[in-house]
Order: sequence, then C-alpha cells, then structure tokens
Amino acid sequence: MYKIPANTLFVGKNLIYVPECHSTNTLAYELCQKSALAEGTVIITRDQQNGKGQRGNTWFSEPGMNLTFSLILKPTFLSPLEQFTLTMAISLAIHDFLTQLVHGEIFIKWPNDILLNNKKVCGILIENTISGNTLQQSIVGIGLNVNQLSYSLDTATSLKLVSGIEFNLSDTLSMLLQALEHRYMKLRTGKTDELKRDYLSVLFGIGQIRNFSDKHGKFTGVIQGVSGEGKLLINCDNVVKSFSLKEIAFL
Ligand code: BTN
Repeated sequence: MYKIPANTLFVGKNLIYVPECHSTNTLAYELCQKSALAEGTVIITRDQQNGKGQRGNTWFSEPGMNLTFSLILKPTFLSPLEQFTLTMAISLAIHDFLTQLVHGEIFIKWPNDILLNNKKVCGILIENTISGNTLQQSIVGIGLNVNQLSYSLDTATSLKLVSGIEFNLSDTLSMLLQALEHRYMKLRTGKTDELKRDYLSVLFGIGQIRNFSDKHGKFTGVIQGVSGEGKLLINCDNVVKSFSLKEIAFL
C-alpha cells in the first residue's frame, strides 16, 4: 500500500505496514525489543485503534484517511539533556513539508503541535530510550490529518479541509519522510543553532501577549522562546519563568 521513498538515504527504506494495530509507537517499541531494526525504519498502519497522544491523551484517526506512523531513530550522538533538539528537528521537518504542500498559516505550537490556519493538523509523540548518557533510541510517532473531513474537536483540521484536495497517502508519506531525513541530517551534523533559529521563527505566539494557566491559576505573559532543555520561557511582568509541558496550558 505504501511505497519505499525514492529520495531518502535511510528513512523509510525499511517500511513495515500493518493493516491495523493499537498504536504504531507501541508496536515499534515491541518490534525493537524483539530484534534490531535499522535506523529509519517506519511502522505504519491504516487503522490505529488506540493511538497515544501527549499528556496521556488518545489520538483518533479515521481508518484509511490519514497518516499514522512511527519512525525509529538512533540519535546516540545526543545526550538526554539535548533531547529537545530532536523535537525541534522533527517539528521543523513537518513544517517544511506542509509549506511545500499547502497554502496557509503554518506554525509550531510549543512543544510540537503543528498548526495549519490556527488548527491542529499534526501531532507528534516522541518516546526516547536513554542508556547512560546517550539517547539510545527514539520512536517518533506522527499523526498527520490528511483526508479526514470531520473531527469531534473544532480545534482540529486536515490537509483536505484546508485545500479541498484529496491527497495520495503513499506520495504524501514519501514527501514527509524526505523532509524528516533532511532535518534529521541537520541535527546529526551539529546544526543545532540553525534548528533553534528556524524553530523560533515559526513558534506560535512568540513575542505576543497570551493567556496561560498553571497550578496557581490563570496568567498573562509573553513567550520569549525555549530553554536548552525545551522548557517554554514566558515573560510575566518582566520576570522570565520556565515551564515544562505538564506545568502549563495555553488558554
Ligand atoms: C499529540 O497528542 O499531539 C501526539 C499525537 C501523536 C499521534 C501519533 S499517530 C502515530 C503514533 N502512534 C501513536 O500511538 N501515537 C503517534
């Protein structure tokens, strides 16, 4: 159903398709436990029945309408403290890919939601295995809304909803894998300053006054950027505070 991408060196060259599964991230993890899978292996399904999202949420996707897959990477050149650079590379790759494919406003909402015309079009769940002081393995789960036309949440959208075009899933996957490899190679070759600069240039809400909530309640602040470890930096009354994903919500 999906073809091996022609324009990549290693991403997607080993493509494992399963008609259905609970979660491609969980399946990828299980397969990696059983045998060594090459870096760049992609596990993809047309019907993910219990997709995992961030913060313990579920990721819903109508069978056969979208891309739901996991990419296995081995960023052993990164220390656990540098994990966020991978998040930046992956979200930027999806941003690059969307910029080539559709017209619209595309932003990365910290840490790694991809927004198209202010609605979420793609979610990313990266699950890392750390061994000693290195990232041994990363399972990069990507859910891209492609041809689905209705969502229970008004905050979600798809490529077809925005463009009116029906996309070929296999061709779309090939293009996305190429973009992922391109940004991952930047990371591999130490271009972290470039990745951070590009990430901040498309970060949703940067420099704008926004409303948030934390364990103390609602507050207003200006997003300044992200810390090296990937915390969101917010200027609140001239004091810059940092927040992890569990500590803050956008209102
Ligand atoms: C989010 O909450 O925004 C992250 C959603 C990630 C969904 C993808 S779909 C493929 C992969 N397998 C999963 O179980 N989750 C990710």
